[in-house]
Amino acid sequence: MPGLYERLQKTAGAAAPAGSAPRTAGAPWAREPEAAPEREGGAAPGTAAPWSGVDPELKARVKQRLAEELDAETLERAQRGDDRPVKEAIAAILRAEGASPLELGRLTAALYAEVLGFGPIQPLLDDPDVSEIMINGPRHVYVERHGRLQRAPVRFEDDEAVLRLIERIVAPLGRRIDEASPMVDARLPDGSRVNAIIPPLAIDGPAVTIRKFARDPFGIDDLIRFGTLTPEMAEVLRACVQARLNILVSGSTGSGKTTTLNVLSSFIPPDERIVTIEDAAELQLRQEHVVRLETRPPNLEGRGEIAIRQLVRNALRMRPDRIVVGEVRGGEALDMLQAMNTGHDGSLTTVHANSPRDALSRLETMVLMAGMDLPVRAIREQIASALDLIVHQARLRDGTRKILYITEVQGLEGDVIVLQDVFRYVQTGVEDGRVRGDFRATGVRPRFSERLAAAGIVQSTRTRKTERRRASKRRGFASEFSRTAGWPPGWRVLSCM
Ligand SMILES: Nc1ncnc2c1ncn2[C@@H]1O[C@H](COP(=O)(O)OP(=O)(O)OP(=O)(O)O)[C@@H](O)[C@H]1O
Ligand SMILES: [Mg+2]
Repeated sequence: MPGLYERLQKTAGAAAPAGSAPRTAGAPWAREPEAAPEREGGAAPGTAAPWSGVDPELKARVKQRLAEELDAETLERAQRGDDRPVKEAIAAILRAEGASPLELGRLTAALYAEVLGFGPIQPLLDDPDVSEIMINGPRHVYVERHGRLQRAPVRFEDDEAVLRLIERIVAPLGRRIDEASPMVDARLPDGSRVNAIIPPLAIDGPAVTIRKFARDPFGIDDLIRFGTLTPEMAEVLRACVQARLNILVSGSTGSGKTTTLNVLSSFIPPDERIVTIEDAAELQLRQEHVVRLETRPPNLEGRGEIAIRQLVRNALRMRPDRIVVGEVRGGEALDMLQAMNTGHDGSLTTVHANSPRDALSRLETMVLMAGMDLPVRAIREQIASALDLIVHQARLRDGTRKILYITEVQGLEGDVIVLQDVFRYVQTGVEDGRVRGDFRATGVRPRFSERLAAAGIVQSTRTRKTERRRASKRRGFASEFSRTAGWPPGWRVLSCM
């Protein structure tokens, strides 16, 4: 009799149900079962939707039997975090359907998640206003709503219940969490990013952080509506992306870097080939011609890791027009800079930093991490010639995200990389808990405006003479700039998609 695996295989490749993670790789159990020990822990964080490739009929049958066999009390217990009876019932049905012991764990976890959701936090997952869920042990659950942190009226029975939740999340991905590997990155079936860390590393109990996946990711109009930037700034950024400037988005954790990177990527013309590289795929590009690459953590024996760095190098052999790297954290910064310097201009990436200047020093440190023993001056030369623009973003105290700086990287003078702000957000006060301030253009004509003009993206509407006269009236020029926060005065953006 064919095993459950064979029957699942029969329909492998069938479309994944709505709401499944937007993945490229196959479901963990849709591969050779014999290879399972290698796979254990070796699957990428968030590899595949648990249900992709599963015979829908079989799934429906198992769910139907489950619905018939589970009573209200068992379900209630599960909602409170005691999932054992439900899991036992699921396992019994799967066994009856011919699942092998190897498949049981994964399928049980996947079924449980689908049938019962994720217990106490399911309402938070379902709440569209919640963007992030943070579980600090069983009694302290926090959420972020509209940019603000709040305690959620949710609790787990005990540490065990949180641990079971983590297991339920990671098991369908072929990963596990225990004392030997007490930290794990994973993804929910809908693509939400999950990090879990357990004792003894997490001192007060298992901690889980969930960044909810935006089903409909923010676009440039959303960011303008939220006050993250002005329409004029958006226009400049669009022009810069189209003119193939190399752009670094910097900001602290949760400041909205990935979101902004996604929006910037949306400005890439549709006829260009894009390769994206990420630790856990979060970008959602609308273009058709996109190749998405994702890193792979080492398996339980510590083998098989594929890091961002290797993917960047591989991407160079894939004839990319643009390389978009989700975040640079280490030695890959060097490869990225080299790529930017060797004809792959128009590349985009993000970095954790507190200011544009800080972003540069972080990059410098990361290049040193590549272990090439480069002198600092050589590194700065690389950075100065590779990078054109830094877009620095922050989460302000009222929870709003703002682009605080759009800064041009002008070049190297002596040993110092010269930065010139094009736009700045100036905070003027706080009213009723809301931050007040405005975006100002600095009034300095960025050097890249020549590149934008050469690319036919902007056109000067002023003669050189007017330009000079304006420049001599510096103050008037600057105030016109700050009044409109537009850029550049006297320039017209020609091509907008
Ligand atoms: N401009 C914005 N306005 C309001 N909310 C935003 C904005 N950008 C992002 N967010 C929200 O903030 C949260 C964090 O966004 P994002 O993942 O882009 O940040 P990040 O800086 O990449 O975070 P990390 O450092 O963890 O990678 C998400 O829930 C997102 O929906
Ligand atoms: Mg990010």
